Amino acid sequence: MAHNKLTTASGKPFAENENSQTVGPRGPVLLQDFILHEKMAHFNRERIPERVVHAKGSAAYGTFIVTHDITKYTKAKIFSQIGKKTDMILRFSTVGGERGSADTERDPRGFAMKFYTEDGNWDLVGNNTPVFFIKDAKKFGDFIHTQKRDPQTNMKSPTMMWDFWSLNPESLHQVFILMSDRGTPYGFRHMHGFGSHTFSFINAQNERFYVKFHIKTAQGIKNFTDAEAAEMKSRDMDFAQRDLFENIQRGNFPKWHFKVQIMTEAESRTYHINPFDLTKVWPHGDYPLIDVGTIELNRNPDNYFAEVEQSAFAPAHVVDGIGYSPDKMLQGRLLSYPDAHRYRLGANFEQIPVNRCPFAVNNYQRDGAMRVDGNGGSAPNYFPNSFDNIVVDESYKEPAWDLDSNRADWYDRNAEGENDHYTQPGNLFRLMDDYNKNNTINNIIGAMSGIDGPKREEIINRQLCHWFRADVNLGMAIARGLGVNIDPSMMK
Ligand code: HEM
Repeated sequence: MAHNKLTTASGKPFAENENSQTVGPRGPVLLQDFILHEKMAHFNRERIPERVVHAKGSAAYGTFIVTHDITKYTKAKIFSQIGKKTDMILRFSTVGGERGSADTERDPRGFAMKFYTEDGNWDLVGNNTPVFFIKDAKKFGDFIHTQKRDPQTNMKSPTMMWDFWSLNPESLHQVFILMSDRGTPYGFRHMHGFGSHTFSFINAQNERFYVKFHIKTAQGIKNFTDAEAAEMKSRDMDFAQRDLFENIQRGNFPKWHFKVQIMTEAESRTYHINPFDLTKVWPHGDYPLIDVGTIELNRNPDNYFAEVEQSAFAPAHVVDGIGYSPDKMLQGRLLSYPDAHRYRLGANFEQIPVNRCPFAVNNYQRDGAMRVDGNGGSAPNYFPNSFDNIVVDESYKEPAWDLDSNRADWYDRNAEGENDHYTQPGNLFRLMDDYNKNNTINNIIGAMSGIDGPKREEIINRQLCHWFRADVNLGMAIARGLGVNIDPSMMK
């Protein structure tokens, strides 16, 4: 094998990579040892800000293959033909922990997909749950603070968490799922993914449909119990990373079935559940799953920092044939992610190879820190111009949106008709078998037992009320487990 010469970052071959230049063998170090400075200075700059949420994650590349025709709903090129293959990357993550935290923590799991389509990269940035804790993006920062560390003790605080949840009963559905064993999945291969929000599909006739995305694990659901997760956390902080990496390395490629639920625009106006409320599911009895395709993860990234840490996913990145919806959370996320990427990775984050569209990128954005792709060379940097051949293609225009109201205001997200936080989590509990019911109840009792301080009783009572309203048996079991005497008047 031909040898490469060791060089500085500027390409100068050099001979001494282990001993600093000193005055005499035991004397002080000389300032002129530039290579020493370069090594130390670059090392000091290795860390970039970690993601403010979802900091601990694992990713793999794969292929999306269309198995069923859904072209009557969408003209998105990724779905244009049965058998069509699209390259993708999928990043899994926990939410609250830092980059070095354990990936077996009780937490939702991120399920972020980037499909490299010829109409641009489509990012479907979902979770392993179909719903979320809140309904309005304005509440996200407050919510996340409760999942992170207490400002004084610098420790996780069940008191903060349950205080927030009990004061925001819209969270109940997601909290219930989180407290079930689905809150501690056995790695990343054995869980479903969901786009969670309602998006829109637009077909070739420019008709709009509303759509929810479901990505069902072909490996089957497998979870840790609370005790198993705790045991794994102490044994291997990186269990999920290891499980994903090693299975792919061995050629045991994990797969998921990609499905959708479809609602017409007309139905969206009359359906009894607000179809744009992220704390609710569309029951499958009303909106059955429709098969679309499969995802297979078949290649590990070569370099974690380059391809996983620097990956950037944004719900705003949809492609022709796929659009947004009025979901207030989605609308907030459209802004938040590219803003986070510009902070975390810089204004030119889209040029980083894992983020870059492998097809055409033509625009007049120029300059900025770390612009490394030639910056458009000598081509014009303004639009319109008389010199280049870049055109605006009108066929990509989205159909106009008819909105229900023209009154701007701050509407109560939980107003009458929007405040049933209880039916869906209650139904979910009633659907469970005894094993899952018991585990969920015990997980809730365990988690709520951590509430402490002067407001302990108040927070427990407030949260108990929500459990009772979801299901009396659930409420009773949790109250019993927490040693709370239930006033018979609560049962009426
Ligand atoms: C308004 C509510 C939300 C806001 C403001 C928000 C904000 C953020 C931010 C700032 C990041 C870090 C991005 C980065 O630095 O690259 C992030 C990551 C992420 N969020 Fe959210 N988020 C919200 C709700 C959600 C919901 C509802 C889901 C899932 C349905 C979700 C899934 C994810 C995932 C999967 C990641 C990690 C992406 C990756 O792997 O790089 N988030 N979020």
